[in-house]
Amino acid sequence: MIIAVDGYSACGKSTLAKDLAKELGIVYIDSGAMYRAITLYYLEQREKNPILTIEELPLDQIQIDFIPGHKPIILLNNKDVSDEIRQPSVSDLVSEVSAVSKIRTALVDFQRKIAEGKSIIMDGRDIGSVVFPNADVKLFITAAIDTRAKRRFLELQQRGIQQSLEQIKSNLLKRDQIDSTRSDSPLTQTADAFLIDNTLLNREQQKQVALNIIKSKTNN
Ligand code: DC
Repeated sequence: MIIAVDGYSACGKSTLAKDLAKELGIVYIDSGAMYRAITLYYLEQREKNPILTIEELPLDQIQIDFIPGHKPIILLNNKDVSDEIRQPSVSDLVSEVSAVSKIRTALVDFQRKIAEGKSIIMDGRDIGSVVFPNADVKLFITAAIDTRAKRRFLELQQRGIQQSLEQIKSNLLKRDQIDSTRSDSPLTQTADAFLIDNTLLNREQQKQVALNIIKSKTNN
């Protein structure tokens, strides 16, 4: 079974996907973490070469590994960068990096490969539209911008990262805009995706809404 979860930044996609993976006994794959790892690599390379453009990134020198689990791990050239990729410096640039077609092509291939032969739930922006257009169930998640900003603020605080609510809100709005308007696989709700607006739902309620949709689609 393949479940695709797409939607805006910080709208609770990964929380929902993790909850569903646990409930259904399937593997959760965070595609955004991969774009974040490449962004981190670009930031590191740019320190050494300030005029390096994103298009010039040598993709053959980047190895990304994703180890699924209760707390998934993302490796960049064999180094665990699971925490580092949540830094604001990465969030600020990740939408520009993920708009570059050759980066998308490489990661979409990788995403399909790691899902091969498994039952998975993957979250991102183009999972139902491009990565798995034949997914068994497609969910499209949204929530009010102020709710999303508050949730991300609390999440970053728990990770020990200080950023103001205003800074977070403006980063989310900027990313939504770039992610939805880029020419290569923009964020979009496909006609066969179920919309869940979780502004007024708690974690358990959102899981139940999604489980009902999955049951109705798969007769499980
Ligand atoms: O899910 P996230 O916020 O960690 O994703 C970070 C960025 O990566 C997001 O702003 C856009 C990009 N992304 C993408 O373009 N396609 C995906 N499938 C997942 C993420």
